[in-house]
Order: sequence, then structure tokens, then C-alpha cells
Amino acid sequence: MSYAELKNRTAVVTGGARGIGRSIAEELARGGADIIIVDLVEDSAKATASEIAATGVKAVGIAANVAKTEDVKRMVGEAIKLNGKIDILVNNAGITRDSLLIRMKDEDWNAVIEVNLKSVFLVTRELITHMMKARYGRIVNIASVIGLMGNVGQANYAASKAGIIGLTKSLAKEFAGRKITVNAIAPGYIQTDMTAKLTPEVIEKMKALIPLNRLGEPSDVARAVRFLSSDEASYITGQILTVDGGMVM
Ligand SMILES: NC(=O)c1ccc[n+]([C@@H]2O[C@H](COP(=O)([O-])OP(=O)(O)OC[C@H]3O[C@@H](n4cnc5c(N)ncnc54)[C@H](O)[C@@H]3O)[C@@H](O)[C@H]2O)c1
Repeated sequence: MSYAELKNRTAVVTGGARGIGRSIAEELARGGADIIIVDLVEDSAKATASEIAATGVKAVGIAANVAKTEDVKRMVGEAIKLNGKIDILVNNAGITRDSLLIRMKDEDWNAVIEVNLKSVFLVTRELITHMMKARYGRIVNIASVIGLMGNVGQANYAASKAGIIGLTKSLAKEFAGRKITVNAIAPGYIQTDMTAKLTPEVIEKMKALIPLNRLGEPSDVARAVRFLSSDEASYITGQILTVDGGMVM
């Protein structure tokens, strides 16, 4: 299916080289948006961008660690060169470092908070001035149902994703006057490299908690991001949309 509602929009997708981020970038491109893929490794960011460019939109790949202030400043400087503006920001980059709290190392705590939560602060702070000047913006942060319900062995991840939810609501209030909307999506169990590490038993247990009785696909999340990134969602801000087959109600 193709849509035209994002024509003349420029979107940054962090962690866009693979998984949910890649699917979001493809979906926004299908809507007509030009795409900036930001990811850790230059080759993979550029490879995904060139596959998206082959569909007829402009797309570039930029290497950056979104948890590092200097990288983020450079990345935004490069991103703005594509079209001189950024209309849509999807803060998607994220990692897990699971362990029970009693065994959790400082490094596991810090890495997850920095990549999942601090990055949203850093990238948004750097980009927001461009959106404020344009008096237009769509920011979609990728949280998780784990940030709403918690999980054994994921204290760091749950805290980072719950943090994204508080950050989303605060930024929604702070920038509403400039017609910038800020929402979050809380995906449930989505099949990607991140979840491929789980054992079949854990996956079956998880599935039993999903009323729609199937695991999610990256495209399930991507379509919700496209809607929140469009003009049709102009009266929606500060919301957390769960895309989880009904797991959390
Ligand atoms: N897969 C799920 O079930 C699920 C559920 C809820 C939320 N999420 C969230 O969705 C997002 C995407 O998850 P995914 O499953 O596609 O994961 P993934 O591991 O497949 O992809 C994550 C991408 O982010 C990039 N990345 C990681 N750290 C980065 C950094 N510091 N700077 C720049 N890029 C970085 C990786 O290189 C990778 O391309 C994450 O925020 C994750 O927490 C995933």
C-alpha cells in the first residue's frame, strides 16, 4: 500500500538500520517522507538507507552513538543538510542488558539508561530548535509495555522505558505551543533480533498473555508510528499507545 500524507516531510529514525527502526523508516518512506537513518555502524546505516532510497525517496545513513552528546550534535548537523529541516523524529534506538537486580552491574544499569533514555533527551534537545523555528514537529518515542508493567530481570530496561513515558508527557506540554506533538508507542512482544535471544518456553509463556494470540511484527509498530507522524494526528499529544495485541489494557 502507498500513502501520500508524508510527502515533503523529512524524518530521522534512530536505530533505523534494522528491526523495528528499519520497518518504521520503510513505512515513513512509503508515506513519501525523506529518511535519515541513524545507527551505530556506518555501513549498516548506509546500506539500509540506500535500499530505502531505491524506493524513490531521498534517504541517507549517518553513523552515531545517540547516547553521546558530541555524536548527536554532529549527526543533527549532517541530518539537517538533507533538506534543511527535520519534521519527524522517531527515537527508537534501544538495548537490553537483562539480569536479576542482585547481579546487575553498574555498567548494565548505565548502558541501558544512557542508550534508551538519555539518548531521547540528547537527540530531542539538539533537533527541537529546528522544529520550534518551523512551528511544526512530530516526535514519536519508542517505549515498551515493560515500562508500564515491569518485568523480572529487566529493572534497568523497565526504568528506562518508564522514564521515556515521563519525558514524553513533559515534552508534549513544553512544545505544544509550537504545534509540536510528542507521543510514545509501547510495543509488546515484537519479533526482532532483540527478542530472538529468548527461549521457546519464554516465548510460549509470553504468547499466552496476548489476547490476539500472536507475536507482533515490526510493521505493526511502524504503521502506528506513521499515523502519529502524520497531519491526521495533529490533535494527539502526550499519549502512550500500546501496540501489543492487547497484553496491557
Ligand atoms: N523487540 C521488541 O519486542 C520490543 C518491544 C518493546 C520495545 N522495543 C523497543 O523498540 C526499539 C527497537 O528494538 P528492536 O527490537 O528493533 O531492536 P534491535 O536490537 O533489533 O535494533 C536496535 C537498533 O538500534 C541500534 N542502536 C543500539 N544502540 C544504539 C546507539 N547507542 N546509537 C545508535 N543506534 C543504536 C542498533 O544498532 C540496532 O540497529 C528499542 O527501543 C526497543 O527497546 C522492542
